[in-house]
Amino acid sequence: MALYDKKGPIIMKEEPGVKFYCMCGLTEEAPYCDGSHNGQETGKTPYIVKFSEAKTVKICGCGKSERLPYCDGAHGKFEK
Ligand code: FES
Repeated sequence: MALYDKKGPIIMKEEPGVKFYCMCGLTEEAPYCDGSHNGQETGKTPYIVKFSEAKTVKICGCGKSERLPYCDGAHGKFEK
């Protein structure tokens, strides 16, 4: 299942460190970048963030967020 095939967010408890979140949706290791964008001309590169302390994040799984890679609640706006 590709990253943006999900209907809601992926909730992650991250430990301190650098994370590379997928922005193109092609990763096989969602929500992290696995390098699948290389050679695909997606025009996207991973979102890199450094956490200085443990933190829970909501990563967009639907691809509709305007705040990628984070969920902004847009997944609920299009459901019937
Ligand atoms: S999962 Fe995409 S906006 Fe929430």
